[in-house]
Amino acid sequence: MDTNPVKSQLWASVGAYLQELQESGVDGLEMESPTALLSESAPPQPASAQIETGLKKDLPEPEPAQQHETLEQIRKNLGDCQRCKLGATRNQLVFGVGNSNARLVFVGEGPGADEDMKGEPFVGDAGRMLNRIIAAMGLQREEVYICNVVKCRPPQNRNPEKDEITTCSPFLLRQLHSIKPEVIVALGTFAAQAVLGTKEPISKLRGKFHDFHGIPLMPTYHPSYLLRTGGNSDSFWTVWDDMTQVLRLLKLPVPDKSRKK
Ligand code: URA
Repeated sequence: MDTNPVKSQLWASVGAYLQELQESGVDGLEMESPTALLSESAPPQPASAQIETGLKKDLPEPEPAQQHETLEQIRKNLGDCQRCKLGATRNQLVFGVGNSNARLVFVGEGPGADEDMKGEPFVGDAGRMLNRIIAAMGLQREEVYICNVVKCRPPQNRNPEKDEITTCSPFLLRQLHSIKPEVIVALGTFAAQAVLGTKEPISKLRGKFHDFHGIPLMPTYHPSYLLRTGGNSDSFWTVWDDMTQVLRLLKLPVPDKSRKK
């Protein structure tokens, strides 16, 4: 019986998250008993009571007496991660970057080629577009936190697969638990669907806050999409509208931006 309240709470969150994903149709969360994870006393062992995924032996355990898990501890726990098949093909694991006390966290899909080479999320063209968005909000990249649903680059930039999401998502959840941001922005269809556990299109999800473990989450279009539509496109201003909602929730000033004519 696990009596550590921090650990129990973390397990309950992970279990609830996985159950949400499974119930809402994100494929491949082949849990024998998702409710086993929801139990206050559900420990990571024995494996048979857990799920038929990479989680069952690898879900990291917080230190027993730990009140707060730091990002460094989570990174260390990931180590030279080979928990899923992406470990074999990546160059660098891309954990996340930014302020460990950020009020705002951006979550993308997964690293691309530039990120895989550099070990940092959003450093390629999409990253430059994200930087533009952050700057337009009156913020600096260093004051927010940026990470992805999966930490390793899928080959040929394909979408992450279900087993990869299942294996990696507990680490995202732990990062968010550690940072405790006031708002999360999910960038693009994949990140929004994976984090919220839904198949709804981004066009339906964006523009309003969703609840993610008590934290308001705003889905919006992915910066790569804006690269295709242009920096003064309707989509660009749609993202700006979403970001103004984020700024208002954070009680930050909304910079005055002139729209295209
Ligand atoms: N696209 C993403 O979703 N994440 C990155 O880190 C880079 C591009």
